[in-house]
Amino acid sequence: MPKRSQEFSYQVKQLRTNQTEAEKKLWKYLRAKRFAGFKFKRQQPIDNYIADFCCMRGRLIIEIDGGHHQTQRSYDERRTIYLNEQGFRVLRFWNNEVMSNIDAVLQTISLALVPSPFPGDRAHLNSYSAPSPGSLREGGRSRHTAGDPPGLWRGQERVQRLEFISMRKTTITVLREMKKDRRKIAALTCYDYSTAQLLNQAGIDILLIGDSLGMVKLGYSSTLPVTVEDIVYHTRIVSRGNRSALLVADMPFMSYQASKEESIRNAGKMLKAGAEAVKLEGGVEVAPIIRALRAIGIPVMGHIGMTPQSVNAFGGYKVQGRQKAQAAKILSDAKVVEKAGAFAIVLECVPAGLAKRITRTVKVPVIGIGAGADCDGQVLVIDDLLGLSAPPSPRFVKRYANLRDSIKRAAVDYAREVRTGKFPDEAHSYT
Ligand code: KIV
Repeated sequence: MPKRSQEFSYQVKQLRTNQTEAEKKLWKYLRAKRFAGFKFKRQQPIDNYIADFCCMRGRLIIEIDGGHHQTQRSYDERRTIYLNEQGFRVLRFWNNEVMSNIDAVLQTISLALVPSPFPGDRAHLNSYSAPSPGSLREGGRSRHTAGDPPGLWRGQERVQRLEFISMRKTTITVLREMKKDRRKIAALTCYDYSTAQLLNQAGIDILLIGDSLGMVKLGYSSTLPVTVEDIVYHTRIVSRGNRSALLVADMPFMSYQASKEESIRNAGKMLKAGAEAVKLEGGVEVAPIIRALRAIGIPVMGHIGMTPQSVNAFGGYKVQGRQKAQAAKILSDAKVVEKAGAFAIVLECVPAGLAKRITRTVKVPVIGIGAGADCDGQVLVIDDLLGLSAPPSPRFVKRYANLRDSIKRAAVDYAREVRTGKFPDEAHSYT
């Protein structure tokens, strides 16, 4: 260990004793190997520098900056270059980012520790490099150094070998806290193992094995034909890939409507397959079922508004709650479902104003889909978000990727190369 001056050691001690509020907040998540088993140290001397938080195994340094760092940029940059050269990656956050957006901060840290499952896919390394104040940023200039493989930052090779790493586990209690702290909940449907892993790495809070799988994966024209066995099968698969998200399995049509006994039996199958909660559609009419499931310890997520299993009764997939009486029924459903013991409510396809009112009325988190921006969280069907499902899609769907075109293009390129003898070439053959 290098011999340090008394002054330097005093400074380390002072920094450890006088934590800022932002440092205290982040430390709650990092201390005692709480963050996916990684050991972090506070105010760690590294040669002549002191890192706010340092994880040796992940070669990661986290700095939490106050406003004075705006005026010492060149010092910070020199420091980052030096630390990069020692094989550390440096992430810098502003105090206010930690205080007001801890989820995004934790997600950025998680992504910095998690290697991409796809060799060569470094998109996640570039996604938070904007050096502007108020945005999550990476310290200093380029993280690339002379001896590195092209495009890799030093130290990445070390984390590349680490197994799948998840963030903090989402539980029902965490969701309740998120609503209280006004942190938005990000939920997505998920039907398979590898997507579950990716969605964990992306920090998605809830994975729903939705009966939408009937339409996007099984080729049905509605969710009605989906069976308990379908959901159980996909729940097993997703649960093998999931570590951090809360896993919710949808109760398909006629798996809970007939009797309490049958709903208990079917919900039990889903929990045995790995679900941590079930979701069922309906308001006042399903309250006794919610109560029965809660009574035996099965957490239930409600689903009100436009409930796709009732598509025939609605006369199509239409926005619900535009008329006064309808809006009053949906609000009353929300209250009844909450009172029956649901831990959260999905609110589908209702006007944004009504969704806002419901979100403010009930204490449990309201997860919107086509219900405006004021819900406690949002859910989308993963195939819609990825641009995998065939257009047209409902107005509320935002496509964040266009995998339909990417997949088609890749398959066309492959077929052409096979037919012209370009694939496999030498590089893809054994000698
Ligand atoms: O089945 C499903 O995917 C759903 C969500 C869209 C809420 O119920």
